[in-house]
Amino acid sequence: MAFDFTGKTVGVTGAAGINGIGFAIARKFLQYGAAVFICDLDEKALSEAETKLREYGTVKAYKVDVSNGQAVSGLFKEAVRDFGYIDVFISNAGIYPQIMVCDMAEEQWDTVMAVNLKSVFLCARECRRVMDRGGVLINASSFAALLGSAGSGAYAASKAAVYNLTKTLAAELAPYQIRTVGYIPGVIETGMTKEVIESREKELTEAIALKRLGKSDDVADAVCFLASDQAAYMTGTFLEISGGKLCVQNPDYAWNQYGKNACGTA
Ligand SMILES: NC(=O)c1ccc[n+]([C@@H]2O[C@H](COP(=O)([O-])OP(=O)(O)OC[C@H]3O[C@@H](n4cnc5c(N)ncnc54)[C@H](O)[C@@H]3O)[C@@H](O)[C@H]2O)c1
Repeated sequence: MAFDFTGKTVGVTGAAGINGIGFAIARKFLQYGAAVFICDLDEKALSEAETKLREYGTVKAYKVDVSNGQAVSGLFKEAVRDFGYIDVFISNAGIYPQIMVCDMAEEQWDTVMAVNLKSVFLCARECRRVMDRGGVLINASSFAALLGSAGSGAYAASKAAVYNLTKTLAAELAPYQIRTVGYIPGVIETGMTKEVIESREKELTEAIALKRLGKSDDVADAVCFLASDQAAYMTGTFLEISGGKLCVQNPDYAWNQYGKNACGTA
């Protein structure tokens, strides 16, 4: 599906990693004609990402810690000064520490909640301030929001809270004509999941109906749809981009029955 975001400005947080979902989202929006600003905490990667994204269109990068209210407020002020208006904003930044809940230090717990959840609140508050002609706010949740995750429980809890918060924001921002939606990636091959995939790829893939891990572009396409006028009646809802992760209890059954070469034989 092709979209037209010509004349629109789109902001994406956590977009510095060139294999990451945020970077893929930024590139797609540029390809569909938008001007894009990106932000991240990782200054070096951010500058490399900005250089790469320039091949596709107008882009500007800002170094911002999305868990810091003053920094987020500054980001929106600068972006409005530089671009005039923000039509679409994607709260994508996140961290995914692998640690058992009861082994966590209090500060580690607080950091996960600040980066993954508080940032969504801070960005939503700024969106309401600057999107005075309406817009679209899109938040990154996770499959872990739907089903807890041993070894990353704080992450799962933070993403479940993002899921819930997005629904409340949809209602609270509706009078401002700001649609608020979200996305639920399954297992996507990015820097965040590199170690987990290296150690458990077979187990992870087995749970997926399509029998492949996701790519950042799989998510970026869905996010562009959510931001588009084709999704004008969607608010308070989420798109799951997981290849059918755990959509049944027995994802191998049909593959065992029909085999790998079933396509075209029905
Ligand atoms: N990759 C997956 O399988 C998967 C699954 C479910 C949900 N998600 C979610 O999708 C989003 C993108 O994940 P990704 O896989 O592309 O990961 P990623 O690690 O490639 O990208 C996350 C980015 O956020 C940045 N970041 C971290 N803390 C920040 C802060 N305080 N301020 C600003 N930037 C900060 C990082 O530097 C990084 O560039 C995350 O919210 C993640 O939780 C990813």
